[in-house]
Amino acid sequence: MSAAPKARPTAGATSGQATAPPAKRPAVTLSRLAEKKALGEPIAMVTAYDYPSAQAAEAAGVDVVLVGDSGAMTVLGYPSTVPVSVDEMLMLSAAARRGLTTPLLVGDLPFGSYEASNEQAIATAQRFVKEAGCDAVKLERGGTSVERAAAIVGAGIPVMGHVGLTPQTATALGGYRSQGRTADRALDVVRDALALQEAGCFALVFEAVPSALTELAMPKIDIPVIGIGAGPDTDGQVLVFHDLLGIYDGHAPRFVKRYGNVRQAMVDGLVAYIDDVRERRYPEPEHGYTMAPDEAARLRDLLADA
Ligand code: KIV
Repeated sequence: MSAAPKARPTAGATSGQATAPPAKRPAVTLSRLAEKKALGEPIAMVTAYDYPSAQAAEAAGVDVVLVGDSGAMTVLGYPSTVPVSVDEMLMLSAAARRGLTTPLLVGDLPFGSYEASNEQAIATAQRFVKEAGCDAVKLERGGTSVERAAAIVGAGIPVMGHVGLTPQTATALGGYRSQGRTADRALDVVRDALALQEAGCFALVFEAVPSALTELAMPKIDIPVIGIGAGPDTDGQVLVFHDLLGIYDGHAPRFVKRYGNVRQAMVDGLVAYIDDVRERRYPEPEHGYTMAPDEAARLRDLLADA
């Protein structure tokens, strides 16, 4: 039987850098988000889909983590968000949960898991809370989703709405394009937002809408609005983890700002590793385990007789 591996030292410990212990923050609650809006303190939200991305969000001090159905594309490799199943989203959400203690965790209800009836919507939302440990769920669109949101809220589960570009129904919207660019269409978006607020949503996502729409709508909305491609006037911003860190190499919408090139860092690291393996530079003595010389000598004798 092999010896149990020792706990791995942290990156800071191996590099000799002193890393300050992270300051303990109180858990982010719905009332804290409302308070942030009231105080004009911007809300930082990001997606995460697994344990390490959630841990990174936790360490960085994010307020809200969304296990977005964008994970269908960024981590599961589907061509759109449509095919991802509830079970797949639950697995991603539960993994993110294990990496978080502070941010509010929101699970995205995938396409086809809530539209059919209020009963279906409540049952799916309950799975996100019971099985994955989510604090809240998100659903897309106005229309029938308003009634679904009210039903889920009525069942005691906080709901985040999502208006503007709603990727689950992008085909019906004419593709992945900004929404609400005429006054009439903009009014439709604002009406959807107000209806979701009326239904009891605790927050809204505005995706890919003109900044002027957001600016004009904000005074009418009492709950926190988190923007993604919605201009600077929202109460907070959200970006997809893999977009902002440069991990996903698919198409990036114009609202994405890259804060890293992690995919290149991963490829560079792997190329260096492969090179070391092929040139027999890895492993070096410090990566191996030692055996007392007398034990090695005895083994040599034993093997000679084997
Ligand atoms: O799925 C997702 O990542 C989202 C965000 C873009 C808000 O819905």
